[in-house]
Amino acid sequence: MSKVDVLLGLQWGDEGKGKIVDVLAPKYNVVARFQGGPNAGHTLEFEGVKHVLHQIPSGIFRSHTKNVIGNGVVLDPVVFRQEIEGLAKFKLALRENLFISKKATLILPTHRLLDHAYETAKGENKIGSTLKGIGPTYQDKIGRQGLRVGDILSDNFRERFEKLTEVHFKILRDHNVQFNWNELEKPFMEAIDFLRTFQLIESEYFLNQELRKGSTILAEGAQGSLLDIDFGSYPFVTSSNTVTAGACTGLGIAPRHIGEVFGIFKAYSTRVGSGPFPTELLDEQGELMRKQGNEFGSTTGRPRRCGWIDLPSLKYSIMINGVTQLLMMKADVLSVFSRVKVCTGYKLRDGRETDILPYELVNEKITPIYEEMDGWPGEEIKGEPLPKGLQAYIEFLERELAVPITLISTGPDRSQTIYRQPLFA
Ligand code: IMP
Repeated sequence: MSKVDVLLGLQWGDEGKGKIVDVLAPKYNVVARFQGGPNAGHTLEFEGVKHVLHQIPSGIFRSHTKNVIGNGVVLDPVVFRQEIEGLAKFKLALRENLFISKKATLILPTHRLLDHAYETAKGENKIGSTLKGIGPTYQDKIGRQGLRVGDILSDNFRERFEKLTEVHFKILRDHNVQFNWNELEKPFMEAIDFLRTFQLIESEYFLNQELRKGSTILAEGAQGSLLDIDFGSYPFVTSSNTVTAGACTGLGIAPRHIGEVFGIFKAYSTRVGSGPFPTELLDEQGELMRKQGNEFGSTTGRPRRCGWIDLPSLKYSIMINGVTQLLMMKADVLSVFSRVKVCTGYKLRDGRETDILPYELVNEKITPIYEEMDGWPGEEIKGEPLPKGLQAYIEFLERELAVPITLISTGPDRSQTIYRQPLFA
């Protein structure tokens, strides 16, 4: 029996998971998404081509890789159709290599409208949602009234769709939301017909069978651990379990089948949307990071908030996920700074110092405690030996985090990847 390796982001998303899945994909027979939906934007770059995937697993560009959209995912059929059509130019074997769980939950057009309505109602306290309907869809799933992909194969799908949208219409009326239903319903139903032409499967059986055959499986996380519904900076989080345990429930994989856990993090921190961000830089250094790192959302285009790396939160993510290897992204972005800072602890309102994430992350006043180090300004990172400053930076992080950093990424292309140690035994 083989194992399922998990790859996930340890910060607030946008760590560069798409690139790494694409780099690792040749090692795996199967790549599976286990949570989230079109709120994700996984960017892949190869041979001068840049492509952003939202719902389709990042193994899709490798012709021998099977790609699974698992039961834990929320799927928007309209976005799905657009994504598939956007991939046409690559001439991929999509109908052969893509498998969709019948138990994935459907995002309806009304879920997107509800997302807008709820965010508007929150006023100043808004989450900063991507407004793709994620929260309301998971609400319906947990509320046991959601529609699932497998339902589109039943004769009474239309009836069930109308029943659920009626419930949504009532809420939308209460929120005074105006919309033209015909304009939304028609493309949705066409997208449902389109979705029916794909392989809709019992993905938990499929994946466990693959394991028994000895296939290698990579579970591809979306968003980041600090956006997890249980462990993130609640309520400024997404609505799914983005951590390793989510791969078990979102794919039907037993915990004992989990193998390596690849934790991806940026050499600094970013966050898009609202919520606490202890090391955020609101000055020209933050501006420089945003510019150097091209930190603008791949799904919404919003500028990302930027700041120094935050070890207390990384340690927390490593603990919750059982990370076995760390992969550091965008090391090149820090090459413009003559001094770099690492947050090693927090000073709280009452003067206490800690490296434990306080329960009241939202209302607590946190002052980061920094360790300052020499940078590697202007030095190009071409491979080993690394610039001295970067080498010291990495060794410091490894000592603090107690997990090896096995890979460093220095740019978006597949080729801009430095292996410090073999990733596979
Ligand atoms: P939602 O998942 O669209 O409801 O958004 C909830 C929060 O998670 C917001 O702060 C979003 O900006 C953030 N978020 C959701 N998906 C992503 C992602 O893929 N990358 C980064 N942030 C995300």
